[in-house]
Amino acid sequence: VGQNLLTLKEVDSTNNFLKNLLTNSKPLPEGTVIMAEHQYAGRGQQQNKWVSQPGKNLTFSILFKPTFLNAVNQFDLTRTISVGVYDTLRTLLGDGLKIKWPNDIYYNDRKLGGMLIENMVQGNRINNSVVGIGLNINQGDFPEGIGNATSVKQILHKDYDLRLLLSEICSHIEAYYLHLKAGKIDLIRSSYLSRLYWLNEERTFRAGDEIFTGIIKGVADNGLLQVYRDGLTASYNLKEIEFLNK
Ligand code: BTN
Repeated sequence: VGQNLLTLKEVDSTNNFLKNLLTNSKPLPEGTVIMAEHQYAGRGQQQNKWVSQPGKNLTFSILFKPTFLNAVNQFDLTRTISVGVYDTLRTLLGDGLKIKWPNDIYYNDRKLGGMLIENMVQGNRINNSVVGIGLNINQGDFPEGIGNATSVKQILHKDYDLRLLLSEICSHIEAYYLHLKAGKIDLIRSSYLSRLYWLNEERTFRAGDEIFTGIIKGVADNGLLQVYRDGLTASYNLKEIEFLNK
Protein backbone atom coordinates (compact mmCIF):
# COMPACT_ATOMS: atom_id res chain seq x y z
CA VAL A 1 0.00 0.00 0.00
CA GLY A 2 1.37 3.39 -1.03
CA GLN A 3 4.13 2.15 -3.35
CA ASN A 4 2.26 3.70 -6.22
CA LEU A 5 1.56 7.22 -4.96
CA LEU A 6 0.17 10.16 -6.88
CA THR A 7 0.02 13.55 -5.19
CA LEU A 8 -2.30 16.19 -6.60
CA LYS A 9 -2.21 19.89 -5.77
CA GLU A 10 -5.92 20.26 -6.21
CA VAL A 11 -8.80 17.97 -7.11
CA ASP A 12 -12.56 17.80 -6.50
CA SER A 13 -12.28 14.61 -4.45
CA THR A 14 -9.59 11.93 -4.40
CA ASN A 15 -12.34 9.29 -4.33
CA ASN A 16 -13.83 10.72 -7.53
CA PHE A 17 -10.41 10.95 -9.13
CA LEU A 18 -9.57 7.33 -8.38
CA LYS A 19 -13.00 6.12 -9.53
CA ASN A 20 -12.56 8.01 -12.79
CA LEU A 21 -9.19 6.40 -13.38
CA LEU A 22 -10.82 3.01 -12.87
CA THR A 23 -13.71 3.65 -15.23
CA ASN A 24 -11.28 4.87 -17.87
CA SER A 25 -9.94 1.34 -17.49
CA LYS A 26 -6.43 2.29 -16.55
CA PRO A 27 -4.82 -0.81 -15.09
CA LEU A 28 -4.01 0.31 -11.60
CA PRO A 29 -2.16 -1.80 -9.05
CA GLU A 30 -3.84 -2.61 -5.79
CA GLY A 31 -2.55 -0.31 -3.06
CA THR A 32 -2.40 2.75 -5.34
CA VAL A 33 -2.78 5.94 -3.30
CA ILE A 34 -4.08 9.28 -4.56
CA MET A 35 -3.36 12.13 -2.18
CA ALA A 36 -4.49 15.72 -2.51
CA GLU A 37 -3.19 18.88 -0.94
CA HIS A 38 -6.57 20.45 -1.52
CA GLN A 39 -10.01 19.00 -2.27
CA TYR A 40 -12.57 21.55 -3.35
CA ALA A 41 -15.48 19.11 -3.27
CA GLY A 42 -14.45 16.56 -0.68
CA ARG A 43 -17.21 14.13 0.20
CA GLY A 44 -18.18 12.61 3.51
CA GLN A 45 -20.66 9.95 4.47
CA GLN A 46 -24.37 10.46 4.06
CA GLN A 47 -24.01 13.13 1.36
CA ASN A 48 -22.03 15.38 3.72
CA LYS A 49 -19.19 17.58 2.55
CA TRP A 50 -15.66 17.01 3.75
CA VAL A 51 -13.96 20.35 4.24
CA SER A 52 -10.26 20.54 5.03
CA GLN A 53 -7.83 23.48 5.12
CA PRO A 54 -5.53 23.23 2.06
CA GLY A 55 -2.10 21.76 2.76
CA LYS A 56 -2.77 21.10 6.43
CA ASN A 57 -4.36 17.69 6.57
CA LEU A 58 -4.40 14.24 5.06
CA THR A 59 -6.97 13.62 2.34
CA PHE A 60 -6.26 10.53 0.29
CA SER A 61 -7.79 7.46 -1.29
CA ILE A 62 -6.46 3.93 -1.54
CA LEU A 63 -7.42 1.33 -4.13
CA PHE A 64 -8.09 -2.19 -2.91
CA LYS A 65 -9.15 -5.21 -4.90
CA PRO A 66 -10.63 -7.44 -2.21
CA THR A 67 -12.03 -10.02 -4.62
CA PHE A 68 -11.57 -12.63 -1.88
CA LEU A 69 -14.23 -10.89 0.21
CA ASN A 70 -17.88 -11.77 -0.24
CA ALA A 71 -19.97 -8.63 -0.62
CA VAL A 72 -22.03 -9.54 2.45
CA ASN A 73 -18.83 -9.18 4.46
CA GLN A 74 -17.85 -5.77 3.16
CA PHE A 75 -17.92 -4.36 6.65
CA ASP A 76 -14.81 -6.41 7.41
CA LEU A 77 -12.91 -4.13 5.06
CA THR A 78 -14.24 -1.11 6.97
CA ARG A 79 -13.01 -2.72 10.19
CA THR A 80 -9.61 -3.45 8.66
CA ILE A 81 -9.03 0.11 7.50
CA SER A 82 -10.35 1.62 10.72
CA VAL A 83 -8.01 -0.34 12.97
CA GLY A 84 -5.05 0.42 10.70
CA VAL A 85 -5.68 4.15 10.90
CA TYR A 86 -6.44 3.91 14.60
CA ASP A 87 -3.19 2.10 15.46
CA THR A 88 -1.11 4.71 13.65
CA LEU A 89 -2.68 7.61 15.53
CA ARG A 90 -2.77 5.74 18.79
CA THR A 91 1.03 5.80 19.02
CA LEU A 92 0.87 9.61 18.82
CA LEU A 93 -2.22 10.29 20.88
CA GLY A 94 -2.56 7.45 23.37
CA ASP A 95 -5.75 6.94 25.39
CA GLY A 96 -8.79 8.86 24.33
CA LEU A 97 -8.59 7.63 20.77
CA LYS A 98 -11.55 5.52 19.65
CA ILE A 99 -13.28 4.26 16.56
CA LYS A 100 -16.79 5.62 16.44
CA TRP A 101 -19.04 3.25 14.57
CA PRO A 102 -18.98 2.77 11.70
CA ASN A 103 -15.64 4.34 10.79
CA ASP A 104 -14.99 7.69 12.41
CA ILE A 105 -11.84 8.37 14.35
CA TYR A 106 -12.59 10.14 17.60
CA TYR A 107 -10.42 11.69 20.25
CA ASN A 108 -12.38 12.06 23.45
CA ASP A 109 -15.67 13.34 22.12
CA ARG A 110 -14.33 15.03 19.03
CA LYS A 111 -13.96 13.90 15.47
CA LEU A 112 -10.42 13.66 14.16
CA GLY A 113 -11.25 12.03 10.88
CA GLY A 114 -13.40 9.73 8.90
CA MET A 115 -13.60 7.58 5.85
CA LEU A 116 -15.71 7.09 2.81
CA ILE A 117 -15.41 3.58 1.41
CA GLU A 118 -16.96 3.02 -1.99
CA ASN A 119 -17.13 -0.59 -3.12
CA MET A 120 -17.73 -1.72 -6.67
CA VAL A 121 -19.58 -4.97 -6.39
CA GLN A 122 -20.08 -7.48 -9.16
CA GLY A 123 -22.22 -10.47 -8.34
CA ASN A 124 -21.32 -11.27 -4.78
CA ARG A 125 -17.71 -10.09 -5.04
CA ILE A 126 -16.03 -6.75 -4.45
CA ASN A 127 -13.88 -6.00 -7.48
CA ASN A 128 -12.61 -2.60 -6.48
CA SER A 129 -12.83 -0.67 -3.31
CA VAL A 130 -12.00 3.03 -3.15
CA VAL A 131 -11.11 3.81 0.43
CA GLY A 132 -11.10 7.56 1.06
CA ILE A 133 -9.60 8.80 4.29
CA GLY A 134 -9.66 12.31 5.72
CA LEU A 135 -7.73 13.11 8.89
CA ASN A 136 -7.30 16.47 10.59
CA ILE A 137 -3.62 16.79 11.32
CA ASN A 138 -2.07 20.30 11.25
CA GLN A 139 -5.21 22.40 11.08
CA GLY A 140 -5.20 24.78 14.05
CA ASP A 141 -8.81 25.83 14.11
CA PHE A 142 -12.12 24.99 12.54
CA PRO A 143 -14.79 27.24 11.11
CA GLU A 144 -17.79 28.05 13.23
CA GLY A 145 -20.47 25.46 12.66
CA ILE A 146 -18.14 22.50 12.17
CA GLY A 147 -19.44 21.27 15.48
CA ASN A 148 -17.13 18.81 17.11
CA ALA A 149 -13.98 18.58 15.02
CA THR A 150 -10.47 18.37 16.39
CA SER A 151 -6.99 17.80 14.96
CA VAL A 152 -3.68 16.33 16.04
CA LYS A 153 -2.43 19.93 16.20
CA GLN A 154 -5.14 20.93 18.66
CA ILE A 155 -4.31 17.95 20.85
CA LEU A 156 -0.49 17.93 20.78
CA HIS A 157 0.29 21.54 19.72
CA LYS A 158 2.81 20.30 17.16
CA ASP A 159 2.94 19.94 13.41
CA TYR A 160 3.42 16.57 11.79
CA ASP A 161 4.98 15.61 8.48
CA LEU A 162 2.04 14.52 6.35
CA ARG A 163 4.09 12.28 4.05
CA LEU A 164 5.60 10.41 6.95
CA LEU A 165 2.26 9.96 8.62
CA LEU A 166 0.75 8.74 5.35
CA SER A 167 3.42 6.10 4.97
CA GLU A 168 2.88 4.91 8.54
CA ILE A 169 -0.86 4.69 7.96
CA CYS A 170 -0.26 2.71 4.77
CA SER A 171 1.95 0.20 6.59
CA HIS A 172 -0.55 -0.32 9.40
CA ILE A 173 -3.43 -0.73 6.97
CA GLU A 174 -1.40 -3.13 4.85
CA ALA A 175 -0.59 -5.32 7.84
CA TYR A 176 -4.26 -5.63 8.78
CA TYR A 177 -5.29 -6.08 5.16
CA LEU A 178 -2.94 -9.06 4.89
CA HIS A 179 -4.57 -10.55 7.99
CA LEU A 180 -7.97 -10.06 6.39
CA LYS A 181 -6.78 -11.69 3.19
CA ALA A 182 -5.39 -14.61 5.20
CA GLY A 183 -8.84 -15.15 6.69
CA LYS A 184 -8.07 -13.91 10.20
CA ILE A 185 -11.54 -12.46 10.52
CA ASP A 186 -11.72 -13.00 14.28
CA LEU A 187 -8.59 -10.94 14.77
CA ILE A 188 -10.01 -8.12 12.62
CA ARG A 189 -13.37 -8.17 14.36
CA SER A 190 -12.01 -8.30 17.89
CA SER A 191 -9.46 -5.55 17.15
CA TYR A 192 -12.23 -3.32 15.87
CA LEU A 193 -14.53 -4.08 18.79
CA SER A 194 -11.92 -3.38 21.46
CA ARG A 195 -11.33 0.11 19.99
CA LEU A 196 -15.00 1.04 19.76
CA TYR A 197 -16.34 4.32 21.16
CA TRP A 198 -19.07 3.92 23.83
CA LEU A 199 -18.78 0.13 23.92
CA ASN A 200 -20.62 -1.27 26.94
CA GLU A 201 -21.48 2.19 28.25
CA GLU A 202 -24.95 3.38 29.04
CA ARG A 203 -25.55 6.23 26.61
CA THR A 204 -28.23 8.26 24.90
CA PHE A 205 -29.23 7.79 21.27
CA ARG A 206 -31.82 9.01 18.85
CA ALA A 207 -33.63 6.78 16.40
CA GLY A 208 -36.18 8.67 14.35
CA ASP A 209 -38.22 10.73 16.81
CA GLU A 210 -37.30 8.58 19.73
CA ILE A 211 -34.61 9.37 22.29
CA PHE A 212 -33.54 6.45 24.44
CA THR A 213 -30.74 5.10 26.58
CA GLY A 214 -29.00 1.96 25.51
CA ILE A 215 -25.70 0.15 25.56
CA ILE A 216 -23.62 -0.62 22.48
CA LYS A 217 -22.91 -4.32 22.60
CA GLY A 218 -21.12 -4.73 19.32
CA VAL A 219 -21.43 -4.66 15.56
CA ALA A 220 -23.09 -7.44 13.60
CA ASP A 221 -21.15 -9.25 10.87
CA ASN A 222 -22.97 -7.14 8.28
CA GLY A 223 -22.02 -3.90 10.02
CA LEU A 224 -25.23 -3.03 11.85
CA LEU A 225 -24.76 -1.43 15.26
CA GLN A 226 -26.13 -3.58 18.06
CA VAL A 227 -27.64 -1.66 20.94
CA TYR A 228 -29.12 -3.26 24.02
CA ARG A 229 -32.27 -1.41 25.09
CA ASP A 230 -35.48 -2.31 26.87
CA GLY A 231 -34.21 -5.83 27.48
CA LEU A 232 -33.50 -6.56 23.82
CA THR A 233 -30.70 -6.09 21.33
CA ALA A 234 -31.75 -3.87 18.44
CA SER A 235 -29.78 -3.38 15.21
CA TYR A 236 -29.37 -0.09 13.39
CA ASN A 237 -27.84 1.13 10.18
CA LEU A 238 -26.10 4.47 9.81
CA LYS A 239 -29.21 6.35 8.77
CA GLU A 240 -31.28 4.98 11.62
CA ILE A 241 -29.33 5.99 14.71
CA GLU A 242 -27.59 9.05 16.03
CA PHE A 243 -25.32 9.31 19.06
CA LEU A 244 -26.38 12.04 21.49
CA ASN A 245 -23.80 13.39 23.86
CA LYS A 246 -26.07 14.11 26.78
C1 BTN B 1 -16.89 11.18 6.86
O1 BTN B 1 -16.44 11.25 7.99
O2 BTN B 1 -18.05 11.52 6.61
C2 BTN B 1 -16.00 10.65 5.77
C3 BTN B 1 -14.95 11.63 5.34
C4 BTN B 1 -14.11 11.10 4.21
C5 BTN B 1 -13.20 12.16 3.62
C6 BTN B 1 -12.18 11.62 2.68
S1 BTN B 1 -10.96 12.82 2.25
C7 BTN B 1 -10.32 11.78 0.98
C8 BTN B 1 -11.53 11.11 0.34
N1 BTN B 1 -12.07 11.94 -0.73
C9 BTN B 1 -13.30 12.37 -0.46
O3 BTN B 1 -13.97 13.12 -1.20
N2 BTN B 1 -13.70 11.92 0.74
C10 BTN B 1 -12.68 11.08 1.36
